[in-house]
Amino acid sequence: MKRVRFGIIGVGSMGSGHARTMQKVEECQLTAVCDIDEEVAKAVGEEHGVKWFLDYRELIDSGLVDAVIVATPHYFHPPISIYAMKKGIAVLSEKPIAVTVKEADEMIKTAKETGVPFAVMYQNRSTGYAQAAKKLVEEGRLGEIYRTTLISTYFRSQAYYDSAGWRGTWKGEGGGVLINQAPHALDLFTWIGGLPSKVLAKTKTRRHKIEVEDEASAMLEYPNGATGYLHTSTNEAPGTNLMEFCGEKGKLVIYNNKLYFWELETPIQEFCEKTDQMWGSPKAKPVEVPIPERETGHAAIMRNFARHILYGEPLLTPGEEGINSVELINAVILSGAKGEEVSIPVDREEYEAFIEEMKAKSKEKVVKKVRRETDPQHRV
Ligand SMILES: NC(=O)c1ccc[n+]([C@@H]2O[C@H](COP(=O)([O-])OP(=O)(O)OC[C@H]3O[C@@H](n4cnc5c(N)ncnc54)[C@H](O)[C@@H]3O)[C@@H](O)[C@H]2O)c1
Repeated sequence: MKRVRFGIIGVGSMGSGHARTMQKVEECQLTAVCDIDEEVAKAVGEEHGVKWFLDYRELIDSGLVDAVIVATPHYFHPPISIYAMKKGIAVLSEKPIAVTVKEADEMIKTAKETGVPFAVMYQNRSTGYAQAAKKLVEEGRLGEIYRTTLISTYFRSQAYYDSAGWRGTWKGEGGGVLINQAPHALDLFTWIGGLPSKVLAKTKTRRHKIEVEDEASAMLEYPNGATGYLHTSTNEAPGTNLMEFCGEKGKLVIYNNKLYFWELETPIQEFCEKTDQMWGSPKAKPVEVPIPERETGHAAIMRNFARHILYGEPLLTPGEEGINSVELINAVILSGAKGEEVSIPVDREEYEAFIEEMKAKSKEKVVKKVRRETDPQHRV
């Protein structure tokens, strides 16, 4: 079988997990790794018997790789990806593709100009329930959507935030729960329900000693006038993963990775106007939606990306779609900071100025012992 030669740049918690996952993806061959921490680069390189580098440019220029996975902290995703693209190397960027929409624009522009394959690690798109949900919306089974909800809550301890200098800081991370934990949910939410055009948010740092938000709530308005609500935090146990998309013809709910769908006998506006029953409401029939059996997770995205390079298979997670979650993240953070409604597309220059101001105020974080433990749910 033909294989794509991969380098992984940033082999901490997630990158080292990707190196292990890649061993079971036949279309991929790990040929090099890179980390700025010599001990880490050497350990992961030796674990897999591949060449290791301390500088990403040397890995990209080594002739050893056809593609890279960029699994560094977020701020490095754009410069490393753009360098690789300009050298004709395919890029699979970790999420989020960038901290700011302006940097995301630059990545997308470079991918278009160079023509190199570009994807983003939004592995939740590979799940059967997400694929089925997207299909229902595309087939028009919901009709026009008039309301959405996203609740995406997690728990992270102070020890998690204290595990690396970049975590929970403006300078190192560029945001909190919105930019780190929520992007997967925000990607699915916007992939299925579209991107709002206006956001009014409140952000807070409630439970942790960090610079950035660990909680965000926002009211959303869509181009068609639909309303939405989102809430995310790293303050809750057990976490909740809920999405609702209410349409004129049906209602779709995804709750803790299970899909529920109700079809209305009569579209809701038509029923509202035509019924003469004082207490009537449209009949809603629960529908058993077939969920496709398929490979999921990081392996599915790596395989799809490699098959895209080898055989032109359509991408599950095109890099340019990675900007939607960044638009929403930037809009919620900016609205929370200003206490005002913010429009999407986000004003590029205003957000750059905001993030520069936050970075300038950001304090150097001293970490007693850096820890790079792969999240148990991503261990292979
Ligand atoms: N898709 C997912 O399920 C998922 C899960 C966790 C993390 N992530 C993403 O992966 C990225 C990394 O997160 P993590 O938890 O692995 O962080 P981490 O701190 O454990 O690892 C990051 C590694 O990158 C290295 N690094 C930093 N700058 C570098 C540079 N310029 N060149 C090369 N190496 C560099 C660090 O030394 C470190 O080893 C983040 O963007 C995060 O959002 C994705």
